[in-house]
Order: sequence, then C-alpha cells, then structure tokens
Amino acid sequence: MLSEKEKLETLTHLGIELNQVSDLDILMEHILTQARRFANADAGSIYIHDGKSLQFTYTQNDTLQKRLAKGEKLIYSTFTLPINKESIAGYAASTGLPLNLPDVYHLSPEKPYRFGKEYDEASHYKTESVLAIPMKASNGQVLGILQIINAQDDKKKVIALSENDEKMMMHFASIAAVALERAQMTRSIILRMIKMAEMRDPKETGAHVNRVGGIAVDIYETWAMRRNYPQKTIDKNRDVLRMAAMLHDVGKVAISDMILKKPGRFSDDEFEIMKQHTILGAQLFLGRKSDFDEAASLVALTHHERWDGKGYPGHVNITNGSPLPELKFPKGKPKGKKGDEIPIFGRIVAIADVYDALSSARSYKEAWDESEVLATIKKESGHHFDPEIVDIFFQDLEMIKSILERYANDL
Ligand code: C2E
Ligand code: SIN
Ligand code: SIN
Ligand code: SIN
Ligand code: FE
Ligand code: FE
Repeated sequence: MLSEKEKLETLTHLGIELNQVSDLDILMEHILTQARRFANADAGSIYIHDGKSLQFTYTQNDTLQKRLAKGEKLIYSTFTLPINKESIAGYAASTGLPLNLPDVYHLSPEKPYRFGKEYDEASHYKTESVLAIPMKASNGQVLGILQIINAQDDKKKVIALSENDEKMMMHFASIAAVALERAQMTRSIILRMIKMAEMRDPKETGAHVNRVGGIAVDIYETWAMRRNYPQKTIDKNRDVLRMAAMLHDVGKVAISDMILKKPGRFSDDEFEIMKQHTILGAQLFLGRKSDFDEAASLVALTHHERWDGKGYPGHVNITNGSPLPELKFPKGKPKGKKGDEIPIFGRIVAIADVYDALSSARSYKEAWDESEVLATIKKESGHHFDPEIVDIFFQDLEMIKSILERYANDL
C-alpha cells in the first residue's frame, strides 16, 4: 500500500508520466495500472464514452491473471452499456458523480443501479467493492469511467475507499482525463489520416488498421518478454509501435485511384507502382527525430520485406527510392532485405498485415476461411515470415482472435 506521502507524490508526477504516452490503448493501461496501485486494488476497468453509450474497453485483474501460466495474457471481450442510472458505470456517467460502493452484492433496493453479475459469473471472480469515477474533459463532458474494483487494506482485506481516498481518486481522474482527451485527439487525427489514404479503398478502414496495430503490439510484447527486456523499454516500444503499425500503409495516399481501387488483380506494371507505397510512406516521416517518426518510417518501409529476402522494396535510398549501389542485383533491382536485416517492427507488422488482409474481403478478393489463413501463415514460416514470429503468433492466437473481434467494426 502507498503511504499518504507516496500518494501525493504519485499525483504530483502523474500528469508528466501520462503525457509521455501517445497511444490511446497504451494510455488506458497506464491509467488503470496507476489507479490500482494508488488504491491498492485487485482489479479495475475503463469504460469510454463514445457519444451515445459506454464502451467497456479495458480491464486488469490480478486474481484472474494469477490463474494463468507465466507469460499468458488475460483475454477479455468488450461490450457496451447504455448511459442511464441502471448500471454502476452508467450512473456515474449520467450524473457525473462518483459512486463508492462497499459491497455491490448488497445494494440498497432504493438505489436505481444494479450490479451486472454476468462478468463475475463468466470469469469466476467475486467483485465486492467498486469505486466508479467519471473522467471529465475540460468542458465538463464525461470522457469515460474509471472503475476501481476490490480495493484492499494492507492485510489484503477488501475495503471501501475512505472519503479522503475518494477525493484523491477524483483528483487522479481529473489528471487522467487531460491525458485521455489528448490521446483521443491523436487517435482521431491518425484515423483521419488513414481515411484519406485508405477510405478511397472502401474495404480498408480504421478497423483494419486498429487490428493491425493491436495484433502487432501483442506480438511485440511476447517477443520482448522472451528476451527479458526491461518493462520500461517494452512499454515505450509498444506505445510507439501501436501508432506506427496503424500507419503502415499510409503511403497509399500517393497511389492513384485507378490502381488503388482496381476491382480485379494487378498487372505486373500496376503492382510495381503499388510497391512504391512503402517508400512513399517512409518519406512522410523522414527528417523528424522522435522515436515515433523513426518507427513509423521503418514500419512503412519494411512491412513487405520477406524473411527469405524475396520481398520489397529492399535495400533502397529512402529519399529517392533508388537501389543502394553496393546492394543491387545485376538487373539493377534493389536486393531484398533478409532475415534480421529486416527490423523487428517490420517483421511483426508483416504478419499482422497479411493475417488481417487474408481474413478480410478486399476490392480484389474475398475473405479467406480461418483454416486457410492459419495454414498459409504456418506454411510461410521461414519463407515470408520470421519463424519465431510465426511461433509467437500461434502461442498468442486466442489473444489475437480477441483483438480481431474487438475491432470487428469500423469506428
Ligand atoms: P493489402 O490488401 O493490405 O494486403 C497486404 C498483404 O497481404 C499483401 O501484400 C499480401 O502479402 C497479403 N495478401 C492479401 N491478399 C492476398 C491474397 O489474396 N493472396 C495472397 N497470397 N496474399 C495476399 P502485397 O501483395 O504486397 O500487396 C500490397 C497491397 O497492394 C495490398 O494491400 C493491396 O492494397 C494491393 N494489392 C495487391 N495485389 C492486388 C491486386 O491484385 N489487386 C488490387 N486491386 N490490389 C492489390
Ligand atoms: C490493443 O491495442 O487493442 C491492445 C493490444 C494488447 O492486447 O496488448
Ligand atoms: C531490437 O532488439 O529491438 C532490434 C533487434 C532486431 O531488429 O531484431
Ligand atoms: C504471402 O506470402 O503473401 C501469403 C502466402 C502466399 O503467398 O500464399
Ligand atoms: Fe502495405
Ligand atoms: Fe494493410
């Protein structure tokens, strides 16, 4: 448990810490981790207000996590709640006031809200105390609900938060809301950029890029944990990769509609033009020095390289796309990058992109059956894809499928 002094210190540094996170999903993880640490809580969730309802978007649960094997991740599904006084989160969202409930299984019948037992029943978990706090934007609008579940005293006994702790959590939520509002803005700018590039192809949407981003980050986390990278490094790289992976195809903005929207298969010449989307995308992020720009440039450039060296664009000069002189084939074509010449982010986005592209319909093809998609990924181990990444893909398959479902629809 944190002492009062440590709580004040956490609040003092919270804004700075949260402002170092760019991606919305990663930010929600940080907010919840810190809030749970603050309240010494076993579990928690975040609901986001999407304009008409509350979307359950993220959850953490130490008890359920401990039931999993080491390295396994907690899989959860998302759902929506109407904004009315009948649920706990809905009540906090519609009134704008916090709810601090010592025992959700014994609510006074006069209260308008009820606890939804479905999640507990499905997961064999026992929720007792809940603190639901609205996170409000500067204009007073409720952005979402932070829910702290089963706060504990230092003997691990579940308690309701004291009035003082409740006040501190309100302060916590107001700091988190500032970061949340900014990250939502960044996400919506990115999605708008992608719409410009890809909504011209009506089958490629914000949902596709959210899936590629979510899957890439999941695979990276497992890859980096296998190497015992420090948690701080993993967190930073997941944040950068989430957005860079979403932008992998942004170079398509410079490809003509005639090619981009072609209803059928490409000719060889058309495909050569389309291949330029890698270099064009990489150029968009050149000349800037943030970790994000560097990762986004690298992902755009290398997501179509192949482990066996037969991918594209290969060893090229990014600024003009010409082959690097010492690395070209006799015919003058750039030599493909091979094996771990391809940066890890590129190797990971390659598999996330192909998995999602094969699983979805496109202007030029139908969606494939899951069994065909998985057989192709397995077959391409060591050819198109890094064998270790294929291995991680199958290890994490349940999580990856849950990410497909979470972003089934365009936003
Ligand atoms: P995309 O639709 O996002 O597809 C990404 C990658 O998934 C493709 O990269 C390819 O590796 C894989 N993929 C997607 N569909 C299929 C498929 O039916 N069979 C196989 N074997 N692999 C598939 P790739 O081939 O480098 O293509 C890059 C982008 O070029 C595609 O992105 C898509 O926008 C466009 N494209 C590729 N081929 C055609 C085509 O024949 N017609 C049209 N209209 N667009 C195409
Ligand atoms: C997400 O970005 O949607 C979450 C990815 C993860 O499960 O780590
Ligand atoms: C890294 O360790 O982050 C990069 C190594 C690689 O690209 O394989
Ligand atoms: C790919 O390598 O693009 C997918 C696998 C295949 O070519 O069949
Ligand atoms: Fe691409
Ligand atoms: Fe794509």
